[in-house]
Amino acid sequence: MNFEDWQIIRFKKLNSTNDKALEQSSIAKGCYVIRADEQTAGRGRRGRVWQSLKGNLFFSLLLEFKTENIGELVIISAVSLYQSIKQINPDADVLLKWPNDVLLNGSKVSGILLEKAAGNYMVVGIGVNIEQSPQNSDLLYQATSLKEAKINITSDDFLTLYINIFSNNINILNTEGFESLRLFWNKNAKATGKEILVRQEKRNIRGIFKGIDEKANLLLEKDGKTEKITFGDVFYEE
Ligand code: BTN
Repeated sequence: MNFEDWQIIRFKKLNSTNDKALEQSSIAKGCYVIRADEQTAGRGRRGRVWQSLKGNLFFSLLLEFKTENIGELVIISAVSLYQSIKQINPDADVLLKWPNDVLLNGSKVSGILLEKAAGNYMVVGIGVNIEQSPQNSDLLYQATSLKEAKINITSDDFLTLYINIFSNNINILNTEGFESLRLFWNKNAKATGKEILVRQEKRNIRGIFKGIDEKANLLLEKDGKTEKITFGDVFYEE
């Protein structure tokens, strides 16, 4: 697949590009990029709010993808963000954080929210802090923007770059399989081999971060055993 395969639909204002993509999925043919200049009810992971600040990029990819391979899609989406930023500035300090975060200078620069849509469709909702980042004190993670890191690119150019890189990674998945993408993620993840904390609703688990497995589960070594973690929020011990 390549850039030309995507039908790009741009709105001035939407509640949430994910909601629009979910709606579109029942009549979808091919794949789409649903973009909004302004988002009034951006949604984040695990029921959180995504603060959609002016000048930032909000879009959702709507594509056919097997639900059981959702882990691969999570990794491809995040790796493509990592590669987009590195392509603009190869010296940028970018690291990946499980499951689908990208850290720039140690702070969250983007968010990804995957949702199952109609039929075989999946929605990959992406927010990129291009111009500004939320700075309120009750944030789960510190945030930053490309601009704050002196990476200057317009949201239009970033989106074009991202779609090209994402399409290329889908081609890699389809021709070579997931392994090279998984290894790329592991190689560029933060805190591999170090102690991390995984917070879940019912428990906190501390262990040594060992990367991700072939289903994109987080591998946590604890008391000599490796535990597979399927959900949760990761925190670093710094
Ligand atoms: C997270 O880190 O919690 C995920 C945030 C995902 C935000 C994006 S912005 C575009 C799309 N529309 C939404 O309502 N959410 C995603």
